[in-house]
Amino acid sequence: MLKVENLRKSFGGVVATSDVSIDFPAGSLSAVIGPNGAGKTTFFNLISGGLQPDSGRILLDGEDIVGLPSSEIVRKGIGRAFQVAKLFKSLTVEESLRGALQSPLGRSLQMHGRFPTDDTRDRAHKVMEQLGLQHKADIISGNLSHGDQKLLDIALALVLNPKVLLLDEPVAGMGPEERTQMIDTVYALWKKGGLTVVLIEHDMEIVFRISQHIHVLSYGKLLAHGNPEQIRNNPAVIEAYLGTPKEARA
Ligand SMILES: Nc1ncnc2c1ncn2[C@@H]1O[C@H](COP(=O)(O)OP(=O)(O)OP(=O)(O)O)[C@@H](O)[C@H]1O
Ligand SMILES: [Mg+2]
Repeated sequence: MLKVENLRKSFGGVVATSDVSIDFPAGSLSAVIGPNGAGKTTFFNLISGGLQPDSGRILLDGEDIVGLPSSEIVRKGIGRAFQVAKLFKSLTVEESLRGALQSPLGRSLQMHGRFPTDDTRDRAHKVMEQLGLQHKADIISGNLSHGDQKLLDIALALVLNPKVLLLDEPVAGMGPEERTQMIDTVYALWKKGGLTVVLIEHDMEIVFRISQHIHVLSYGKLLAHGNPEQIRNNPAVIEAYLGTPKEARA
């Protein structure tokens, strides 16, 4: 499904991604974890085409997508939610989702009428229901709570019907109740099948609870990978990341 081979990206002297190879099997739920600055968001930026790697391959169903524009990568089935939600702040929830559907660039505001109006309405409502936003269709996005803004950010990816969903810290900045709601929602989305989910997350309780595979980055390198049990007990991971006090990781 999604396979990354020997991916490398540096910014000046900082090697943010250092020969990383990871296989994300079809239908799996995987986590990418590691300390602040480990290269997690850069890794997503490379996959979604926001950044070009210095070398390496990114294979989606066997096809190398390196060098394709972001809009084409979205069209091929890679959806992405952001560490800081990227919303159309002055549009309502429904308008945002319909706008994303009508734009060839997913999140630009150019409306090209790619989908007939009724289709966009039905699709937007289906996704709002999946994410528990159905009663908020007419709320201006900028006025939503932080948690609902993060849900809408995921909805903007989901509405384009991706095969792979990349989630960058979906519960960042949320209180315990919102966290539970968000993770239950993400888990239910994945559980119903058909979606390969990759999650970047600092909340280890969540990561260990829902992930099938965990990949640990440290200084841009893949330090370890395995199932939750293997990662929890891996001395190198404990030393590089898990051993640090929880408040320092938040
Ligand atoms: N556009 C950029 N230009 C220069 N340096 C960058 C850029 N993006 C990231 N970096 C650097 O690359 C390294 C990895 O950053 P990245 O944002 O990928 O880390 P992260 O693992 O997502 O961290 P966090 O957990 O804090 O979100 C850091 O040293 C960062 O300063
Ligand atoms: Mg990040």
